[in-house]
Amino acid sequence: MARGIFITFEGGEGAGKSTQIARLAATLRELGHEVVVTREPGGSPGAEAVRYVILSGAAEPFGPAMEAILFAAARADHVDQVIRPAVERGAIVLCDRFIDSSRVYQGVTGGLEPAFMQALEKVAVAGMMPDLTVILDVDPAEGMRRATRRRGDEAADRYEKEALEVHRRRRDAFLAIARAEPQRCVVVDTTRAPTKVATAIVRAVQALVTRRLGAGGRAQAPRPVEKAGAAGKAGAA
Ligand code: TYD
Repeated sequence: MARGIFITFEGGEGAGKSTQIARLAATLRELGHEVVVTREPGGSPGAEAVRYVILSGAAEPFGPAMEAILFAAARADHVDQVIRPAVERGAIVLCDRFIDSSRVYQGVTGGLEPAFMQALEKVAVAGMMPDLTVILDVDPAEGMRRATRRRGDEAADRYEKEALEVHRRRRDAFLAIARAEPQRCVVVDTTRAPTKVATAIVRAVQALVTRRLGAGGRAQAPRPVEKAGAAGKAGAA
């Protein structure tokens, strides 16, 4: 059966994920691939309803466990309704945030038990692990400046309002995940110009896409799921 590719993008506030995802999607479409761009929390009608509850701060008074369960509920629906069907028909799925955001925001800075977080992750993902995770690394002070600029007059959301110290712990946690799972994760340094960041991302994605789907977007004969192989600091290139 044809199998597509599932790529997730992670990083702190203001890392430039949406700009980079749009650029990569355009590049991959030019090569003839079917590309599905999606995001979390959200990405399916059920998950978008939960997104509003979380980001408005309505669930915050009930504690991080409640929020973690809501993120997992939204993810389960998103995987089921959007991600798995797209990957199964051979598309390349680019998802803005996924499991690593839960591990970092709810697990590390939310202080939830690792065993609880792992159980939630297992249920939500149901085997649909990313083939590649691009972690866009930004200094939190710079990231917050970018997020404030982008927001303009709009109020900061539940997570953008938190202290710089919290954002620093999150950056360290994302980098720790990349070190622990080098076969899945690649870290891209975003201090350079957006075009250079885009080139680093394309490099990290290209080998995987060519190996799995070929240059023209046609799925090739089934092969065992291979890992990215582009582990480490693609961004340093
Ligand atoms: P969003 O407006 O999509 O922000 P961003 O542009 O930073 O991706 O808001 C999503 C927020 O939700 C973001 O602050 C990270 C947080 N989040 C979690 O805490 N846990 C999760 O599992 C996910 C997917 C997101």
